[in-house]
Amino acid sequence: MATDNLAGPPPPVDVVIMAAGKGTRMMSSLPKVLHRLAGLPLISHVLHTARSLQARNTVVITGHGADAVEAAIGGPGLQFARQMPQLGTGHAVQQAAPLLADDGVVLVLSGDVPLIHADTLRALVAACDGKRLALLTIQLNDPTGYGRVVREGDAVRAIVEHKDASDAQRTITEVYSGIMAAPARALKSWLARLDNHNAQGEFYLTDVVGMAVADGMEVVAHTIADPLQVAGINSPAQLAELERAHQLRTAQALMERGVRLQDPARLDVRGTLECGSDVEIDVNCVFEGHVHLADGVKIGANCVIAHCAIERGAVIQAFTHIDGEKVGVTVGENARVGPFARLRPGAHLGAEVHIGNFVEVKNATLAAGSKANHLAYVGDASVGERVNFGAGSITANYDGVNKHRTVIEADVQVGSNCVLVAPVTLGAGSTIGGGSTITKDTPAGTLTVARGKQVSVAGWKRPVKKPKP
Ligand code: UD1
Ligand code: MG
Repeated sequence: MATDNLAGPPPPVDVVIMAAGKGTRMMSSLPKVLHRLAGLPLISHVLHTARSLQARNTVVITGHGADAVEAAIGGPGLQFARQMPQLGTGHAVQQAAPLLADDGVVLVLSGDVPLIHADTLRALVAACDGKRLALLTIQLNDPTGYGRVVREGDAVRAIVEHKDASDAQRTITEVYSGIMAAPARALKSWLARLDNHNAQGEFYLTDVVGMAVADGMEVVAHTIADPLQVAGINSPAQLAELERAHQLRTAQALMERGVRLQDPARLDVRGTLECGSDVEIDVNCVFEGHVHLADGVKIGANCVIAHCAIERGAVIQAFTHIDGEKVGVTVGENARVGPFARLRPGAHLGAEVHIGNFVEVKNATLAAGSKANHLAYVGDASVGERVNFGAGSITANYDGVNKHRTVIEADVQVGSNCVLVAPVTLGAGSTIGGGSTITKDTPAGTLTVARGKQVSVAGWKRPVKKPKP
């Protein structure tokens, strides 16, 4: 049967990320692309987005601080090409050329443009369609510093860098974003012909536009309206500005899903924050890594919460610090934590557990209904249900060399100011007198007191001061 569909499958996409520049204006010893936005290096945002495109190959051009950049992001499926010295964006992509197959579409991204959306890139690749040069462009009220998109009628003729532009060209408000998609074979032939005869003495990638026009290849501009997607970072001020804009968007998205934020301008999400219904978050909270807040959770002001799952109805009061780094933290249903509490990795609180002010919990499970309300340390411990852990009491889990576990069975009452020297087990229902130092297991149901006996001396006379000679 005859077919008129000669298009075939779309060509594979190979991504090139330019990340060799120095970032002089950051005034930092850290390479620019390793500065963080929303808790992640700038280039990691770009890599995440690139990954979601399912590209065939991803090549990162490194140069300034190459060792640090490669160590920070290296992983399976990623190739590096070094650019030494850094002679411009065209020279950067030239370094990747030997790694690029002729049959693909090359998508050029910048390591310092972190918030580009995958959908935008898909649309750009579709506009390229394996046969056109597609440029991502945007209209800016203030186009200063950017490459201008020069058109004749509707047709794109060239990109002229700000420093090379005439006064008339500088009035153009459509600018090049630094992102393009091009058929690989053609791109490689243009790269081979670049020169540095321009105001900056650099090899400009943008000169390929004029070459494409001369070669009779169609050049298309895919224009977007959202400036955040193409915002590049050159200075600490721009980084801070983009961080705020990005955080505000995150806050708006949370509110659209019903999360009640006391002030959307005072929230920082450095990772993923997943919320159920009727979640309330007070001001100045920072969320890091993956955090899950179930239905009805309330977070007080000034909390830092990282790598943690908080179950339905739990309340985290002001100034609480939770960090489940690597192993996680869980807070059970209707538990109450804080103010001024600290939950460290491996803290797992059951339903209705209360953790109060200046209480630290690490690598310990507290079963339903247990309480440590004031000034305590519970580390490397398994605590049963309905235990009351008195003020000032601690588990002495570390003998200076090894860590040991403390087991506290259900319904134990630990008085105030006790030291539980691990390894030790407190039997179910036992009671520990205040001020005890417990070094041996306590049988179930008993009272244990381990401290000096109280003695009262009748008729005790205080010493009197001798008169001075
Ligand atoms: C570039 C574009 C400009 C566009 C702007 C958008 C060129 C010549 N100009 O200008 O048209 O409006 O981006 O932000 O491309 N890099 C290297 N090696 C180098 C130089 C740069 O890897 O030798 C990397 C940088 O690390 C950065 C990216 O390329 O990630 C862009 O470089 P940058 O110097 O910021 O280019 P612009 O002058 O902003
Ligand atoms: Mg730039």
